[in-house]
Amino acid sequence: MIRQFDTIIVGSGGAGLYAALEASRNSKTAVLSKLYPVRSHTGAAQGGISAALGNVEEDKPEWHAFDTIKGGDYMVDQQAAKILSEEAIQAVYDLENRGLPFNRTPEGRIDQRRFGGHTRNFGEGPVRRACYAADRTGHMILQTLYQQCIKNEVSFFDEFQVVDLILEKDVCSGLVVVELATGALHKFAAKAVLFATGGFGRIFKITSNAYANTGDGPAVCARRGIPLEDMEFFQFHPTGIMGLGILISEAVRGEGGILRNRDGERFMERYSPTLLDLAPRDIVARSVQTEVRAGRGIRGDKKIDDYVHLDATHLGAEVLSTKLPDITDFCKTYLGIDPAEKPIPVLPTAHYAMGGIPTDLQGRVLMDKKGTVINGLYAAGECACVSVHGANRLGTNSLLDLVVFGRRAGRHIADYVKQAVMPSPKESDADGARSWIDRLTDGAEGPHGGNITDQMQTTMMEKVGIYRNQKDMEAAVTEIKELRERYQLVRVQDTSKQFNTDLLEMLELGNMLDLSLITAESALKRQESRGAHSREDYPERDDDAWLKHTLAYLTDDGVRLEYKEVDTSIWEPKPRSY
Ligand code: FUM
Repeated sequence: MIRQFDTIIVGSGGAGLYAALEASRNSKTAVLSKLYPVRSHTGAAQGGISAALGNVEEDKPEWHAFDTIKGGDYMVDQQAAKILSEEAIQAVYDLENRGLPFNRTPEGRIDQRRFGGHTRNFGEGPVRRACYAADRTGHMILQTLYQQCIKNEVSFFDEFQVVDLILEKDVCSGLVVVELATGALHKFAAKAVLFATGGFGRIFKITSNAYANTGDGPAVCARRGIPLEDMEFFQFHPTGIMGLGILISEAVRGEGGILRNRDGERFMERYSPTLLDLAPRDIVARSVQTEVRAGRGIRGDKKIDDYVHLDATHLGAEVLSTKLPDITDFCKTYLGIDPAEKPIPVLPTAHYAMGGIPTDLQGRVLMDKKGTVINGLYAAGECACVSVHGANRLGTNSLLDLVVFGRRAGRHIADYVKQAVMPSPKESDADGARSWIDRLTDGAEGPHGGNITDQMQTTMMEKVGIYRNQKDMEAAVTEIKELRERYQLVRVQDTSKQFNTDLLEMLELGNMLDLSLITAESALKRQESRGAHSREDYPERDDDAWLKHTLAYLTDDGVRLEYKEVDTSIWEPKPRSY
């Protein structure tokens, strides 16, 4: 049976739900997700959503756009950043009107806090721009949007895993999907498909990302010949719980928390004299790593798993329990410490993909550097690259990105489906997906994929992490290629049909291996340091040679790279200092 909808959204995080909400105003809309919607990773975004409301002190969208562009080390497409910052204000008020319980100022306005790289007057000093609901902002966005989707009668297919995309030349006509409850393979026909599958931090060993963040959308697109943009730029959040990677929100520093080394020194004074602990994340993450490498981590042994302290003790129990309740609980649960009494042991954790499926400003997927659109195919949120984050995203711009561009894509879809014809996928459209699954489950002898996952994560963490160099990345490419070959022999041990999580994990592993290879190859070729891409052998930013976006195509022979222009139509690129 082929199910038909005008619009199918893949992924039920903030971008997917916002797009579904808009598309469902005048189209029959379904959301497919391998999770239950309220379990999506948007729910883990803690600290806030940025908008220059100016509720606590003066602020302007223009300052917000400038910070976003400078924070992204000028790899940001500037008209996209302008839209992001201008539409932020209405987006936040829309969320408020839909019921999101933001924290309030004493006068009853939406309260705002400081975050990394958010400044007044083009970098003079920190500004309060992040609107927040304690440290559960993403969770609240998810609940709010889900309720609204239910009201709009969006159909939800929970625990359905996308395996393939059906494309006829430059038109998208549907999806091939596994129903996890039964193991059945389904075809869905749709006039418009939107990918909103989130990030792929699970390619790294230590990550703040949920187990589900395996990059299914970008990987499916890459295998269908769609390029992935700027995949070399992967953000490490400076403060993950040491050894576990669980996020300790930047909001801790926004509320006044301080990073300290083994001598108790506030080391960010040396790296960012103006913004200190609230410098952009790439700078803070590198600073932490540099302290550890210099033997100024808490143990002082220079090993990569040494750590620094995030000191929030001076904030007091009242601020911690009212404004940062979740991270207080995380510290108690995972570390057995109360952050009101003891500093938190932290280390950088793989957090966010700046790159992804290239889109235009309406969320339409682009298939080449000329900007050719694939009709009926859209992407939004972390899996997409509309290029508002460039080489380094500012904290709280991810929730904003998914709301602003999820909404824009949903609105465009609502118009597009009015004139589009319902496609009819062919029986053979599921053949590729079926033979992949048949091979994994045929009961033959073969390696189990767990070791491959482990090796991939270690390779990516150690060789394509915060600091990079030619030798390590070449080794990483070789290792990932070998792992991809071994993956061809993998068999799942559980060959049953119902809720076969073994199969799900092996499908996810295939996706992560493809994305690891694309990430490593894109990083290897970029011979400069910019934002989160920091090369020991090319320590300077090189605008003459490298102010250009990468487009990486997955081919039978590996990865082919092309480049396209960056939109610098508003501010001329300048060296960054904070
Ligand atoms: O630190 C945080 O609360 C994370 C926010 C973000 O990634 O935008």
